[in-house]
Amino acid sequence: MSPNEFSKRRRQLMRMMGEGAIAILPAAPTKIRNRDADYAYRQDSDFLYLTGFSEPESVAVLIPGRAHGEYILFCRDKDPVRETWDGRRAGPAGAVEAHGADDAFPVGDIDEILPGMIEQCARVFYTMGVHPEFDQRLMGWVNSLRAQVGKGRHTPHEFVVLDHVLHDMRLYKSRAEVSAMKRAARIAVTAHTRAMKFCRPGLKEYEVEAEFLHEFRRNGTEPSYLPIVGGGENGCILHYTENRDSLRDGDLLLIDAGCEFDGYASDITRTFPVNGRFTPAQRAIYDLVLDAQKAAIEQIMPGKHCKEAHKAAVKTITRGLVKLGLLKGKVPALIKSEAYKRFFMHGTGHWLGLDVHDVGDYKVGDEWRVLEPGMVMTVEPGIYIPAGSKGVAKKWWGIGVRIEDDILVTKDGHVNLSAGAVKEPDDIEQLMRAA
Ligand code: GLY
Ligand code: MN
Ligand code: MN
Repeated sequence: MSPNEFSKRRRQLMRMMGEGAIAILPAAPTKIRNRDADYAYRQDSDFLYLTGFSEPESVAVLIPGRAHGEYILFCRDKDPVRETWDGRRAGPAGAVEAHGADDAFPVGDIDEILPGMIEQCARVFYTMGVHPEFDQRLMGWVNSLRAQVGKGRHTPHEFVVLDHVLHDMRLYKSRAEVSAMKRAARIAVTAHTRAMKFCRPGLKEYEVEAEFLHEFRRNGTEPSYLPIVGGGENGCILHYTENRDSLRDGDLLLIDAGCEFDGYASDITRTFPVNGRFTPAQRAIYDLVLDAQKAAIEQIMPGKHCKEAHKAAVKTITRGLVKLGLLKGKVPALIKSEAYKRFFMHGTGHWLGLDVHDVGDYKVGDEWRVLEPGMVMTVEPGIYIPAGSKGVAKKWWGIGVRIEDDILVTKDGHVNLSAGAVKEPDDIEQLMRAA
């Protein structure tokens, strides 16, 4: 992402904040995995969106109209010893030279500098409750000002919820963001294709997962969430991530895996037979989920609201489950009573972007949000029939199917960013046969 992209975003936010305001964003904290080992560091998405700066222990500050520079970055100071152990640091000078900050200070000096900046502003834009330790520090700075009001110091008049403004911006993807998301989708599509070709009975789920990890890392990306690689019955567990069982001849394999390129996620699910051939029962459920997914994707276009896709999927799935004898009754009544939730218990999609379940309100007031160009949603209906399901014929047991694509809303309708991963059942069988 170019430096200009980040400065455009900061300018846009600062225009909305107006003069007399300050926005404060802390970097994500590091997290210990066990003893001296950390989890891989992932920058906070709001922080990343506005700065592109990926170091921990940083604080970004925006003050529209500040004479000495509107974008201030507090970051770790240069330290040859620490850098020998933990890696390179930009340092305040690097933050200005290489990362577009107008002004930068060592984060160790923040207690001396930031309260004075806050004091100059009437409104503080801040997201409360995400990083509780930083919430405490901010309250500490404001309280220290309050304690000195008698000495002529000032406190801000208003706290404004920063995420409300910022998350609305993040919902509309720019050209650069769309291009990163296309790349994330393309890499994950290749990985799904690899997995289909590689799969055979007797493998462990983690061996198939390894195909994803290899494809992701060789492209400089990482998984955007823990990959779900569930054979047979495990495909009916929505967030199955153990990925430890053997893949059995005659079972389906459900894989929900995507990667993160330049911070942007893909989120793709494919389901296919372990041995390359659908059984008639698997095929019937698969066809139904695919029909539902297509009906839902057709609803993605400007002017439709974001719940139309779910409605279309529910209608198709309920109708199909009745036809297959898995639900009994009249379709409208079964939709009204949500009887379909026994087999299709999740939503049909979510916003996608820097976060897999990306930010942005689904409702504006009491109304579902209307889709507009630049928004990206997943479309991911599924049907899950665990073994032992009461009143369900045995031939359906252990079938779990989800199909998930990443859909960009465009001026004329939509573009499926993950269309390259085959999903027509005949195409899947052919691909697996040819492997
Ligand atoms: N992979 C998480 C989801 O599909 O929402
Ligand atoms: Mn998914
Ligand atoms: Mn998803």
